[in-house]
Amino acid sequence: MMQRCNRRKTHFPLLAFLFLAFILFSIFYNERSIQRIHQDQDRVPKSSFTYIKPNLPRHPKRAPKVLDRFSTCNSTREYSGRKIGWVDPEAEACRRRETLLLEESCDLFSGKWVFDNKAYPLYNESSCPYMSDQLACHKHGRSDLGYQHWRWQPHNCNLKRWNVTEMWEKLRGKRLMFVGDSLNRGQWISMVCLLQSVIAANKRSMSPNAELTIFRAEEYNATVEFLWAPLLVESNSDDPVNHRLDERILRPDSVLRHSARWEHADILVFNTYLWWRQGPVKLLWSDEQNGVCEHLDGLGAMELAMGAWADWVAAEVNPLKKLVFFVTMSPTHLWSREWETGSEGNCYNEKTPIDFDVYWGSGSDLPTMRMVEKVLNRLSSKVSVINITQLSEYRKDGHPSIYRKFWETLSPEKLSNPSSYSDCIHWCLPGVPDVWNELLFHLL
Ligand SMILES: *[C@@H]1O[C@H](CO)[C@@H](O)[C@H](O)[C@H]1NC(C)=O
Ligand SMILES: *[C@@H]1O[C@H](CO)[C@@H](O)[C@H](O)[C@H]1NC(C)=O
Ligand SMILES: *[C@@H]1O[C@H](CO)[C@@H](O)[C@H](O)[C@H]1NC(C)=O
Ligand SMILES: *[C@@H]1O[C@H](CO)[C@@H](O)[C@H](O)[C@H]1NC(C)=O
Ligand SMILES: *[C@@H]1O[C@H](CO)[C@@H](O)[C@H](O)[C@H]1NC(C)=O
Repeated sequence: MMQRCNRRKTHFPLLAFLFLAFILFSIFYNERSIQRIHQDQDRVPKSSFTYIKPNLPRHPKRAPKVLDRFSTCNSTREYSGRKIGWVDPEAEACRRRETLLLEESCDLFSGKWVFDNKAYPLYNESSCPYMSDQLACHKHGRSDLGYQHWRWQPHNCNLKRWNVTEMWEKLRGKRLMFVGDSLNRGQWISMVCLLQSVIAANKRSMSPNAELTIFRAEEYNATVEFLWAPLLVESNSDDPVNHRLDERILRPDSVLRHSARWEHADILVFNTYLWWRQGPVKLLWSDEQNGVCEHLDGLGAMELAMGAWADWVAAEVNPLKKLVFFVTMSPTHLWSREWETGSEGNCYNEKTPIDFDVYWGSGSDLPTMRMVEKVLNRLSSKVSVINITQLSEYRKDGHPSIYRKFWETLSPEKLSNPSSYSDCIHWCLPGVPDVWNELLFHLL
């Protein structure tokens, strides 16, 4: 059980006082910074930051056009130095107690993989009708199935055993929503496969693939949903099928487009990472009238997006009513020399996990992790972390490599060199994301 600090009433007067103080402070602070932005727009020196309040309701007359894949910038200039200002009134008061609680309990995310072909896999690839062709590795020719048989064993405690009935009871009458990119979609498919087997075929349904895809189970009056929002904030990549990776334009100060969809969920599971690792992006601030974009590196832009997301969480989430989880970055295995010196491949043909302790590959960017940690610390009373990075780092054997459907036709040269087109980013199912869901089950 996750103890959330504001369930305890003992410090209420202090909390109430802090809350008021922060509200007053933030109103004053935001008013001032907004005014300052309007006055100083063109005079801000590059080295100084201006803080702005994100997710402001849009002025109906000056509402900016919704970004889509046809959006363009009129011109692009250097990043102006604007940052996102958000305050969580409860954060500071909560943090100290939360840390104490953490010290008492065990670190679920530190442990090792144990081969267990009795209990794993938790479901059968071919018996899950919602399986994706991107992740069904056995169906696409993978014959070594060891990757399906690993159990995660934390060092100092046990992970709760997966129990599908108990999970459905937790979900009864609720909406569970995964929000993020294709890695998070993989976790959602894993969850649907884990859950669907006990529901009769005529009592469950899946809505067509769209920005929001919904799995429904009638008898539990529950849904398990996936919302495509790879950058969390609004962007020109918000179409789940037809999106652009090359020239990404985003609104760093607004999640409103997506939050209108996710705000009704009872349990939210967010992720975002890999889409920020494709080079610089273009920022189009909500108050920009002339289509002028700003240029910023991925990490800087991700920090702005996390700020806009955190502002929504801080303002809208009551932890007694809504549970929010953030899944940390999913590692990639693109360079086998990182776990086997002198080799030249990637995850292709890898059949067993890495067995030396705390292996960490270059795909998991530490500055990004520090930034995410900083944001999540300030939200610790409202967001629980599912820290999948270290445990998934070991699983170089868990990726589809060549055993998935590829949408583009592969040239003969590529086909003759399997590692050249191997997918070392996503994860086969059944497999690693099932364990991410067991962690979620444990924390619920
Ligand atoms: C998985 O499904 C296949 C085909 O339906 C079946 O042959 C196999 O026995 C099943 N395995 C398990 C563990 O249920
Ligand atoms: C799974 O959970 C249900 C409901 O909480 C319980 O009745 C059942 O005994 C559990 N099954 C196992 C194998 O623990
Ligand atoms: C089903 O769940 C929704 C919330 O997701 C709730 O509003 C509705 O009243 C529930 N219906 C029944 C029949 O319990
Ligand atoms: C781009 O600039 C032109 C000329 O200044 C203006 O008319 C147009 O509205 C701008 N486009 C956008 C998307 O703001
Ligand atoms: C996740 O775990 C790693 C160590 O495995 C740690 O360095 C990192 O800070 C953790 N991230 C968060 C957000 O807690």
